[in-house]
Amino acid sequence: MLLKQLSTLIIFNFIENILDMDTNRLSKKIEDILNSQVTKEAEAAQIYLSYGCWADSQGYGGIANYFFRHSGEERNHMMKIMQYIMGRGGEVKVTAIKAPPKNPADLQTCFENTFKHEVDNTTAIYDIVNLAHDEKDWATYNFAQWFVKEQIEEEKLVMDLLDKLKIAGGPKASDESLFNLDKYLGEAPDDAPLPREASMDKPE
Ligand SMILES: [Fe+2]
Ligand SMILES: [Fe+2]
Repeated sequence: MLLKQLSTLIIFNFIENILDMDTNRLSKKIEDILNSQVTKEAEAAQIYLSYGCWADSQGYGGIANYFFRHSGEERNHMMKIMQYIMGRGGEVKVTAIKAPPKNPADLQTCFENTFKHEVDNTTAIYDIVNLAHDEKDWATYNFAQWFVKEQIEEEKLVMDLLDKLKIAGGPKASDESLFNLDKYLGEAPDDAPLPREASMDKPE
């Protein structure tokens, strides 16, 4: 009888231990920084939506299209991080996001602001990489590398925007060159080639 009671107790303890087991593989700090990146990606999506609407209101349908597609990319980034947090047993916190900044004064400002925003985002990604490295959380470190690569592309795409506007004449760009730039950006590829894929036969 005593043996039966003892084995029941052991089974209960075992079940209790399993139920209490902490399956969150992320530290509190990593979970927090990833959650704040979820918010940042959502904010980026909102900023690009607003830039797209502004560009359209100025008659630049192609540039609007460019920003709308990039807004979608930022939402995809948000989803990747949310899935990573959940997949590691962490808790996603969906928060309020800031309103986008006021409309830019002109195309030059619009593209410069976009570039600054991408650089800020790269800094935030590096913060995740640094923290993951400090904590020896190699899973998060590895996950964040995809974003390091993605930011090389994103910064390059916006640098190309600024270059194209400069070639079109910058602040003195003619209507015709702006028309062509708008047409080009409406159909421009969403990915920039990475230097690691370059060869002498195919420099870009
Ligand atoms: Fe992003
Ligand atoms: Fe981005």
